[in-house]
Amino acid sequence: MKITSAGFAFSSGRISQIPDDGLPEFAFIGRSNVGKSSLINMLTDNGSLAKVSATPGKTKLINHFLINGQWYLVDLPGYGYAKASKSDRREFGKLITDYVTKAKKMWFLFVLVDSRHAPMPIDLDFMRMLGREGVPFGVVFTKCDKLSAGQANANIGLYEKRLLEEWEELPPVFRTSSVKRSGREEILGFIGECLRR
Ligand code: GTP
Ligand code: MG
Repeated sequence: MKITSAGFAFSSGRISQIPDDGLPEFAFIGRSNVGKSSLINMLTDNGSLAKVSATPGKTKLINHFLINGQWYLVDLPGYGYAKASKSDRREFGKLITDYVTKAKKMWFLFVLVDSRHAPMPIDLDFMRMLGREGVPFGVVFTKCDKLSAGQANANIGLYEKRLLEEWEELPPVFRTSSVKRSGREEILGFIGECLRR
């Protein structure tokens, strides 16, 4: 998919504030610092899009960006802040849970994880919640440039093995580097396929 236009549309602090204009939404989420803003800017070919409306590090809002006048790229607040209490973290925040379980037009959720890290309980818990709620999602392994190809294969292989301990099949999986601009065609191609269906 070619991106011909990308711009900030609106921020929402509650899902009832999201305008119901019928356009499909593809959302991105992950722990803080996983590389979400960098990925959104890389995908949209815009060096500053994800920062337009975000207060760095502490945005609690859902940000919608209109792409090609056709679909929304949705930037969700991060979950699992180190400062939050354990019970807070397990709840993933009401806004996030409300959005992923109730947003009518969310077609697909990309869950970002750092390709260097072993599977983290917070991410596995989040995916388990998505499974329970029937939310369609995929896993994006970020920052792949920080590993050699061999290390990345090994790490991601272990991650996939862990997922298969509790899932019958793997969700769609993507590997990205915002530095090398890799994984862009795969993610945009996937979204394009969804839109054509
Ligand atoms: P918060 O919004 O603060 O939660 O972080 P975020 O998930 O939006 O991450 P962000 O894109 O701000 O990136 C966090 C740090 O990781 C920054 O220092 C980025 O430069 C770095 N980073 C992000 N993506 C990549 C990548 O693909 N490769 C490398 N090497 N560094 C990356
Ligand atoms: Mg960010």
